[in-house]
Amino acid sequence: MKRIQIINGPNLNLLGKREPTVYGSQTFEAYFEELKLLFPDAELSYFQSNSEGELIDKIHEVGFSADGIVLNAGAYTHTSVAIADAIRSITTPVIEVHISNVFKREAFRHHSYLSEACKGCIVGFGMDSYRLAVNAVLNF
Ligand code: DQA
Repeated sequence: MKRIQIINGPNLNLLGKREPTVYGSQTFEAYFEELKLLFPDAELSYFQSNSEGELIDKIHEVGFSADGIVLNAGAYTHTSVAIADAIRSITTPVIEVHISNVFKREAFRHHSYLSEACKGCIVGFGMDSYRLAVNAVLNF
């Protein structure tokens, strides 16, 4: 059974309430229950933090044992050399995910420090971006 760790960064704990026109009206907790039902043969875990250091600690913790990490680093995507270095430091492949199509949004969202360190990126499919990423890990 493949072990897949989903990691969400800052402000993603407010999914469902936060800018619903951009991010939808479902909480991640509700979506995660649906996701687990879709992939009964995978071991899915979920972690969220608003702190850069805690995200890095989680990447280190699972990054030598999980089969894949699905990472939505939120705004740290556009700022964090430290998270990019954490991704480069581990052996587990990381898939970068975004709910919104960041390329249709403000220019500062067009650059990701993380993409170059990741195996691939899935951007702009709403919550379904996470399902596509889990599916990608299962097909490695
Ligand atoms: C996001 C896009 C980021 O630019 C933003 O800061 C987020 C969410 C997304 O999932 O679309 O917090 O990562």
